[in-house]
Amino acid sequence: MIIAFCVEKGGAGKSATSVAVSLEYVLRGYKTLLVDVDPQHSSLDWHRLATANGNPAPKVMAAGEGFEDDLGQLAGQYDRIVIDAPGRYGRIMAGALAISDIFVMPTVPGRYDLWSTLRTSKLAERAAMERPELKVRAMLNKVDRRRSISKEIRPALVGRGIDVLDTELSLLADYDEGTEEGLAPTNLNPTGKAAKQIRSLCDELDELSKELRRAV
Ligand SMILES: Nc1ncnc2c1ncn2[C@@H]1O[C@H](COP(=O)(O)OP(=O)(O)O)[C@@H](O)[C@H]1O
Ligand SMILES: [Mg+2]
Repeated sequence: MIIAFCVEKGGAGKSATSVAVSLEYVLRGYKTLLVDVDPQHSSLDWHRLATANGNPAPKVMAAGEGFEDDLGQLAGQYDRIVIDAPGRYGRIMAGALAISDIFVMPTVPGRYDLWSTLRTSKLAERAAMERPELKVRAMLNKVDRRRSISKEIRPALVGRGIDVLDTELSLLADYDEGTEEGLAPTNLNPTGKAAKQIRSLCDELDELSKELRRAV
């Protein structure tokens, strides 16, 4: 299963979620590859720190334009491949849309964030017309229930025809705090709320992948 975390907006949580999900898949015993196609290389940096500190980590690969051709060949060797994509349009986003099974658009509750998810989803819808098996989902991140926009964002997305994952990630220190030691929520604080949310996200993605297999 190939999952891409991809949306135009910077700071939406593409890297933090890619790292957290791929680490959780490793803890579950899946052979996992984390593909960093963002020139900022956040995932690569996290991986370097995880390895330096002797912490568990997925295999990692840095790649650029045309990466989808290499991934097509590697796909059979891994149980899970997670793509951490850059926050802008171009060949890499097109590549992620061409190769992923599940295309997840992390979305922080906010007006500008909503607009960029809408723009990214237009591209994704076009790709899904050519590849009907492609599953496109928004995922709410940095949710803070004290802010009204956190309650308004899901209906705003659904009302525009965008499917939203049930799992929401809250605004929590655990998503950021372990980064410098190459940790992620499920091994930083396994009983914490962020860890529970990441496990729930992995469960939900796995359920979606079962639908994919049934569709084949
Ligand atoms: N749910 C969250 N709660 C708190 N901090 C978060 C959360 N998700 C991401 N972050 C932090 O926000 C910043 C931006 O996230 P990042 O994953 O780098 O975004 P992107 O890759 O989409 O640009 C990072 O410092 C990250 O650790
Ligand atoms: Mg990033």
